[in-house]
Order: sequence, then C-alpha cells, then structure tokens
Amino acid sequence: MNLFHSRILGTGSYLPERRVSNADLAEQLARDGIETSDAWIQERTGIQARHFAAPGQKSSDLALPAAQAALEAAGLDAGQIDLIVVATTTPDLVFPSTACLLQAKLGVHGGAAFDVQAVCSGFLYALTVADAMIRAGSARHALVVGAEVFSSLLDFRDRGTCVLFGDGAGAVVLGPSEHPGILATALHADGRQAGVLCVPDKTVLMDGQAVFKLAVGALEKVALEVLAKAGREASSIDWLIPHQANLRIMRGTAKKLGLPDERMVITVHEHGNTSAASVPLALDIAVRDGRVHRGQTLLLEGVGGGFTWGAALIDY
Ligand code: UT7
Repeated sequence: MNLFHSRILGTGSYLPERRVSNADLAEQLARDGIETSDAWIQERTGIQARHFAAPGQKSSDLALPAAQAALEAAGLDAGQIDLIVVATTTPDLVFPSTACLLQAKLGVHGGAAFDVQAVCSGFLYALTVADAMIRAGSARHALVVGAEVFSSLLDFRDRGTCVLFGDGAGAVVLGPSEHPGILATALHADGRQAGVLCVPDKTVLMDGQAVFKLAVGALEKVALEVLAKAGREASSIDWLIPHQANLRIMRGTAKKLGLPDERMVITVHEHGNTSAASVPLALDIAVRDGRVHRGQTLLLEGVGGGFTWGAALIDY
C-alpha cells in the first residue's frame, strides 16, 4: 500500500497554571505607573486573560504535556515518533534545540528532532515540513509542536505589546494516510518587513498598525492560495482556525472569506497571543470541546514576525 499523504492523528495542548486577567495585568502595570484597562484591551484585541509560565518553566516544559496529550489522543507511544519538530521563538537554550530537549523528556531517542523559527507562523511552517517529510517517506509519525514562553520577551513598561501575549503549547501527531488529511499548505516570508515586529535586543518591538495591515492582507491571500491548490471553495471550510493574535484581525480574515463568526475557532480571549503555540492550542481546545470533529475541513493560518505567513487546508 502506498501512503502518499499525512493526516492528523491526535491533538494536545497545555496552558501554564498562572492565569492573569486583564484586570490583574492592569493592576501590575499601574504599580509602575503604566496605564491600561480591561476595557481597552478587550475592545482593541478581544483578549480577556493570558497564562504566564512559572519562573524557570521553559518552552520544553510546556511542550511536554501538550505532546503527551497529543500522543494519547493518537493512540501512539513516544517510541513510535520518528520526527519531532518544535516551532518556537523562545527556545529553552540557544542549543540544543527545544525539540531535542523535548525528545529526552519524552524518554525516547534516535528519531530526528529540530526546531523551526518563524515566530507566530511557526506552527504552519513546522506542520508543512513534517507533512512533506511524511509524504516523502523520510518520517512515519511526526510530533509537531508550537511552544512559547513569550512572556520572557515582554517589556512590561510597553503597554502596546505586553498586554497582547501569553505562554502556552499545542501539539499534533501526524501519521501516514492513504487519503489526504493535509490537503494543501502554503508558506511565505518578506524579510523586508523584519523591522515591524522584532526582538532587536531582549524584548519585543512592534509597529502594531503596520503589523495589523500586513496581517489582514497576507492572511486573505494565503487562505485563497491553499483553497485554490486543493480545488476547494471557501464555503467548504467548516472551521477557520486562525492565529489567535487579535480578534479584529481574525474577524477581518473571516469576513473576507465570507465565513461567519460561528465558523471560526476563537480562543484568544482566554490565552492572548501565544505566538507559535496559538494555532495548535486553538485546534486542540476546539477538538476537545467538540466543535471540531472528524470529517470536517479546517483552514489553519498564521502570520507573524519575519514577516512570515502561511496556511494549511486540512480534512480532519
Ligand atoms: O502575531 C502578530 C502579533 N501582532 C499583532 O497581532 C498586532 C497587530 N496590531 C494590533 O493588534 C493593534 O495595532 C494593537 C492592539 C497593538 C493596537 O491597537 P490600535 O487600535 O492599533 O491602537 P494604537 O496603537 O493606534 O493606539 C491607540 C491608543 C494610543 O493612544 P493615543 O496616541 O491615541 O493617545 C496608545 O498609546 O491606545 C494607546 N494604547 C493603550 N491604551 C491603553 C496602546 N496600548 C494601550 C494599552 N492600554 N495597553
């Protein structure tokens, strides 16, 4: 039997314990004389709360429970995984990769393990690479993880960025399939826009309005690109699962695709922008609460620093 495709066998996610509501964060910032409010954050972003990792808790620590949940959902042991790809902007160390550290934490060795760095588009990049490797026959079962301790990059004196981001992890297990699960993917980058969202030194620097405009345009185009590649119409999408950065950007994309809010998975209110973790986190939450189920068509998409963007059309 020739297996020319990959499909999602299971999903998992993890949010660190410490939940910080907008009001908690406003109170924290006020102690340093920085003014913000629950009302401003909700109105401009849709975010109500985010989770922050505990001191010393690293991306691989968040990735581990997400990966274990995805493996359990897939009905596989870690020993059956021969490829681990971790998308992260906040690796535990410069090296070894977070994927290697995760592999050790899973108690296995021998398979390929590496990180990809495409910031908030990271999960789409990682998924595309893993799908290609499975289709090429160079991997059989892949663990694809997005994990971030993005709070480690935040300047809590910059209210324009620190209210937006949170920490978390999401994971999927991909396996070979006779029928296409991952129908089409597309990835893009424009390094000329590196300066609109970057970490020039230790903390995030962002031109919010420039990112907003670039994001809405890029997301519509890449969504149409994967639909065209797969020969599908936007109306065939059961669930749009966008990068959970800002509800206004997400609604803008859904509107351009002619999809109502009811066909979009929205979890940003509960965890803010978790960068590379955001798409698999939203996917897993929606799988576990019963919104997403087998047989449905999903459009995943991400956009972020680089500037990078990408999408995947999936029969789940
Ligand atoms: O993965 C991609 C990650 N990045 C993004 O998704 C960011 C995309 N951009 C955005 O989401 C929006 O641009 C923001 C949410 C960052 C900002 O919203 P905005 O509607 O573009 O607001 P703005 O930057 O134009 O700021 C409006 C006002 C300013 O005050 P003045 O100049 O009008 O007096 C800001 O100083 O809001 C002020 N402001 C705040 N006020 C209260 C900025 N941040 C805050 C804050 N609380 N946290």
